[in-house]
Amino acid sequence: MQFHGPQMLEFQEKGDERGHLIVCEGEGQDIPFDIKRIFYIYGTASGVIRGQHANRETEFVIINVAGTSKIRVRDGKGNEAVFTLNRPRTGVYIPRMIWKDMYDFSEDSVMLCLASEHYKPDEYIRNYEDFLKAVQEENPEV
Ligand code: TYD
Repeated sequence: MQFHGPQMLEFQEKGDERGHLIVCEGEGQDIPFDIKRIFYIYGTASGVIRGQHANRETEFVIINVAGTSKIRVRDGKGNEAVFTLNRPRTGVYIPRMIWKDMYDFSEDSVMLCLASEHYKPDEYIRNYEDFLKAVQEENPEV
């Protein structure tokens, strides 16, 4: 499986008459990395924007295991996309150095985040101008 840029992923479903079961294997099977950390976000009001950061090192896969939300991604080179998360069997892959905003959370939203790295606050870029500068430094030709 190839993973180029932010993209929607569809996971294997192993459901049967007893109900649904979604499998999300790491290390390049369903997602491109070995999962080192998970966290989940719930109880966020619909008007709130979360995220608003980019990560120098960490890749993520973000899944709404319940409810719905949206994610806007920007690469700092003029490209942006909006993904709607509204099914437990889909997720969005977000590579490193992508600015992300999560918003439009439904009341029942539970957003599960799978991360490739342990938490290190200093690899988060929380200022958009700093993000643009860091993109320029990595891509001097752009
Ligand atoms: P934050 O990154 O602001 O959340 P979001 O991505 O939803 O905007 O994190 C909120 C708080 O939780 C902040 O104090 C840092 C802390 N935190 C951890 O301690 N470990 C983690 O893995 C994450 C994602 C956050």
